[in-house]
Amino acid sequence: MEPPWGTLVKNLIIAIDGPSGAGKGTLARTLAERLGYRHVDTGAMYRAVAWKAAHEGVPLDDDHAVATVAARAKLDQQDGRITIDGHDVTRAIRTPEIDKAAAAVAKLPHVRSVLVDRQRELGADGGVVMEGRDIGTVVFPGADVKIYLDAAAEERARRRASDQAHTGGQQASLANVQRDLVARDATDSTRAVAPLSVATDAVYVDTTSMPIEAVVDHAMRLVHKKLQSS
Ligand code: DC
Repeated sequence: MEPPWGTLVKNLIIAIDGPSGAGKGTLARTLAERLGYRHVDTGAMYRAVAWKAAHEGVPLDDDHAVATVAARAKLDQQDGRITIDGHDVTRAIRTPEIDKAAAAVAKLPHVRSVLVDRQRELGADGGVVMEGRDIGTVVFPGADVKIYLDAAAEERARRRASDQAHTGGQQASLANVQRDLVARDATDSTRAVAPLSVATDAVYVDTTSMPIEAVVDHAMRLVHKKLQSS
């Protein structure tokens, strides 16, 4: 759909952060489609690196070794698919094992540094909606629009459990999904480097009882306001 605000729409950097299951993916994808922007899912980058390291038998707590895997890897995201060194891992990275492996490698400072550099390159020209945990705080502290999406843990677990792309069609027990999600939240929020936190200038949105359309409308209004004021 042609955006109504002309060429101005082209250059913004939109940062979307928050915990798993808060609705970042759907919001980021929809905003990118509406604005004609590139969508970058940085969680998928950590996942793909974890997948590759696991496949190469690299210990997931060896920062230098995993960072070398990350630095050598060719990562590509397009049309909702992600490849690493030519392997399409879109489905393979959405498993409970990779959930844990990605959280483990995301703790490692050198790995983060390699991926943060890549993320900055991807967003350098603007026209990007980037989702993750540290986009508004570390990757692009000067992002034009910063949104922090949150939701109650029960609701985030419910969304994750019913997400086919994530469960691979398996029926996951809600209690297990919630337990794993809360454990990963704790890892992501307490790690030493770039822990999940709300940027002081981010707009905080609790999506627990909001339909996705309302979240998208809210975000589009923030983008519109930014375009009018710039
Ligand atoms: O959003 P996700 O569940 O696909 O992210 C996978 C893991 O990577 C998760 O443990 C959080 C971590 N992550 C991160 O530390 N920084 C980011 N910018 C994105 C994800």
